[in-house]
Amino acid sequence: MMEMEKQFSVAVDGPSGAGKSTLAKAVAREMGILYVDTGAIYRSIGYYVYQQNIDPKDAPAVIAVLPEVHIEMHYGDDGLQHMVLNGEDVTTQIRLPEISLYASAVSAIPEVRAFLLQMQRDLAKTHSVIMDGRDIGTVVLPDADVKIFLTAKAEVRALRRMKELEERGTPRPYEEVLREIQERDWADSHRAAAPLRQAEDAILVDTSTLDFDESLARLLAVIREGVDA
Ligand code: DC
Repeated sequence: MMEMEKQFSVAVDGPSGAGKSTLAKAVAREMGILYVDTGAIYRSIGYYVYQQNIDPKDAPAVIAVLPEVHIEMHYGDDGLQHMVLNGEDVTTQIRLPEISLYASAVSAIPEVRAFLLQMQRDLAKTHSVIMDGRDIGTVVLPDADVKIFLTAKAEVRALRRMKELEERGTPRPYEEVLREIQERDWADSHRAAAPLRQAEDAILVDTSTLDFDESLARLLAVIREGVDA
């Protein structure tokens, strides 16, 4: 008789541009589990605040509009996580570069984090997940079966981001991309509310010298070992 597969959760945290989403998506496909991109949820709030012409650093103003924000996540047959903000599919819009900075700013507001916490936890209650973000192993899923801190040198991340932007037809200069990555790293790891940091029981995976296939193999090995343990 086949053994019932046990439900499990994998937390992946790390700075922007470390390859979290691409790798986590590939792991999810390989293992047949759900990929949850929590950055997309913060981006959706950032997008709403941007649309409303609100300064994302003005915490009281951001908090005041939270009751108007209704976010849903849909998983299409394409396996993609679609973000629906007040009935509108904003999956594409939330990837605009200016929305990255809005997302980073609103994510520093504790009330915004509290507003999104249950939504993220509920997904892990009902599915085997690989969830990526900044505070998944430390705050959202402190009991995750496997915790990974995925990182790479800022210079390497900037080069990867440049390639991605080029492929999308929106190239930008290296210096600018690097500066933005460094600014976001600093903001994400120095904020008071749930700053980016490696959980004590997380396994560090540095992909600076690894290509995609090598990184994926490493992650799968770490996860399989952790889930079986
Ligand atoms: O992963 P990303 O670049 O799409 O995330 C956008 C912003 O959201 C990022 O600057 C930090 C924030 N974020 C967060 O604070 N906590 C998470 N779990 C995920 C993202």
